[in-house]
Amino acid sequence: MTSTPTVDAGAVARALTNAATTASHAPSIHNTQPWRWRAHSDHLDLFLDDSRALPVTDPDRRLAILSCGAALHHALISLAADGQHTTLTRLPDTARPGHLATIRVDAQVPVEPAAIRSLQTVALRHTDRRTVSSVAVDADNLRTIVAAAASQQTLLHVLRPRQVLDLAAASDHAQRIESDDEAWQEELHFWTGGTRPLGTGIPATAIPDKASQTTVPGRDFGHPGDMDIADTHDRTAVFAILYGPGDDDLDWLRAGEALSAAWLKAIELGVSVLPSSATIEVATTRETVRQLLSGLGHPYLILRFAVLDADTAGPAHTPRLPTDKTIEHR
Ligand SMILES: Cc1cc2nc3c(=O)[nH]c(=O)nc-3n(C[C@H](O)[C@H](O)[C@H](O)COP(=O)(O)O)c2cc1C
Repeated sequence: MTSTPTVDAGAVARALTNAATTASHAPSIHNTQPWRWRAHSDHLDLFLDDSRALPVTDPDRRLAILSCGAALHHALISLAADGQHTTLTRLPDTARPGHLATIRVDAQVPVEPAAIRSLQTVALRHTDRRTVSSVAVDADNLRTIVAAAASQQTLLHVLRPRQVLDLAAASDHAQRIESDDEAWQEELHFWTGGTRPLGTGIPATAIPDKASQTTVPGRDFGHPGDMDIADTHDRTAVFAILYGPGDDDLDWLRAGEALSAAWLKAIELGVSVLPSSATIEVATTRETVRQLLSGLGHPYLILRFAVLDADTAGPAHTPRLPTDKTIEHR
């Protein structure tokens, strides 16, 4: 790839703002959007915004940092689609653990068609909690999605049927523990249901109106939503564990990048992705899920892959914060 020797400062500034704006489309636990961007003339800094973390559900910030990793991957896609060559430094300042990444623009390069396609897919991606169709996920497509995660140094372990039953039991156990915990319930209610006028949280329109017929229970939001779902069983769904070698900030950030890469690839292939984190939130069930990996690594998130009914409409996109709440200019 050839790069032009001069950098157009105005184009770089616009590309950095576009990147931080594109990142706001990323998935996040309970749609908390726990990221804050600082845009400089030639680089972007990404911080964890602890004011939108979940102290009860996610005390280690594992899922918040994972969400920021997805936002980071979205920002890099935007810069690539803008023809900006970048250098990424993860956790650049050991004295400030909340400073998760710096993306520096160092040259302008020709735009690859794949970058444009990925950027278009960012706008299409959303969480769809509908029940799955009778169509199985194509094995080649699944391999391509697994490879997309692996390209970000985080792996996907696809569960065998026997392991899906173990996951189902762990998921049920996690949700019982959480629903018996008043502080946890309070936090869930704060972030879910209603119309979400402030631009965070999961609106009732994205929450099923009843519990679905599933082997692995979906998130129990504690109250029914407005989304009409079918009574079909999720027999064709495939479950996988997103996992990696360590269990620290850097691993969680990379896991978020892998989540974004795998999810966008899945959308391109017509495969729906539904994350599930209850078993990761509860320490005992996280350990159960770790054992399903037979020593391969640490679990970060469960993903359901499925083909959804193309004839019925999915939920509307969840809201996002205004950009002045997530991006500051220096
Ligand atoms: C780390 C993480 C954990 C999540 N856990 C769940 C979950 O347990 N159940 C669920 O239904 N959705 C889960 N989601 C999906 C989020 O609720 C969703 O990304 C968010 O509401 C934004 O909506 P969108 O994905 O449609 O843009 C999770 C997403 C992330 C990134």
